[in-house]
Amino acid sequence: MTATLTPPTVARKAARLVAASERLSFDPFTDVDWSLPLDDSMYYLPPEYLPLYGTPVWEAMDDTQRKAYSRHECASLCSAGIWFENILMQLILKHLYDLPADDGSHRYLLVEAADECRHSAMFGEFIRRAGTPAYSVQALLGFGGRFLTATTPRGPEGYLAILAAEELLDASNRATMNDERVHPVSRQMARLHVLEEARHVSYARSYVTETWPRTSGGRRLVAMIRAPFVVRSIVDALCNPAVYDELRIPDGRRTAARNPIHRERLARDLGRLTGFLRDTGVVATWTLPLWRLVGLGAAVQSSPDPVLRSAP
Ligand SMILES: [Fe+2]
Ligand SMILES: [Fe+2]
Repeated sequence: MTATLTPPTVARKAARLVAASERLSFDPFTDVDWSLPLDDSMYYLPPEYLPLYGTPVWEAMDDTQRKAYSRHECASLCSAGIWFENILMQLILKHLYDLPADDGSHRYLLVEAADECRHSAMFGEFIRRAGTPAYSVQALLGFGGRFLTATTPRGPEGYLAILAAEELLDASNRATMNDERVHPVSRQMARLHVLEEARHVSYARSYVTETWPRTSGGRRLVAMIRAPFVVRSIVDALCNPAVYDELRIPDGRRTAARNPIHRERLARDLGRLTGFLRDTGVVATWTLPLWRLVGLGAAVQSSPDPVLRSAP
């Protein structure tokens, strides 16, 4: 197939991002202090970011149980992170497959794939040390990931999926890295991830902004219809019922899904993504019923105007 070469504005962005990567990149096996025991003296995520926070189940837990619960949610989030990144890497590699080595994105995309390899290795290390099961995403999401990687065309569609995952996780990572109640290993992982992912988000936004208007009407139509389902899948992956089974919390998934604090937090954290999607036209008035159908109507309608990231 004929390669779609990188537009000049995106190529200039990619060159700046390669330079930024050379200035600041991390090795999770030296930049995270794995010698610290993962005991339950601290939280592993900010309590307000836990799906059961504020519910009667949460109120019934003592302090140690809450911290242990946060360790399981953090391990589950790491598993979801590995799942996302596996999908993202496949989308990036599909893009790379078509690009000649002198294309403006070639080197940057290899840097991004290498970043994701290190992140997944880091998530795996946390899971192996956390004393929790290696939670897998639900079977339906596993199937959805295979479908997405097999059917997403080369072009802005792949970067829309990448943005959906990275923007949503970015919000909780930023809260985690700044929260002194959270275990240093979690905070170090979150900081590393925020700093490296800012480059990925910056590239994806630039690529989508530049290529979406040039994409055929038919492809844009399909992407607009798929977008709410992709975002819903990512939201679902953040709350794994296996955690509640493991901790013998009956009906935990449903309790979390109905938790107004959790719902408001998700709508708020999706704001940057949905604002960008509205601004680019991926969310249109006629697709709003689809967003409402998957339970994300509030996130789309309350999203602020997009704040473009100031990554290098
Ligand atoms: Fe990552
Ligand atoms: Fe990324």
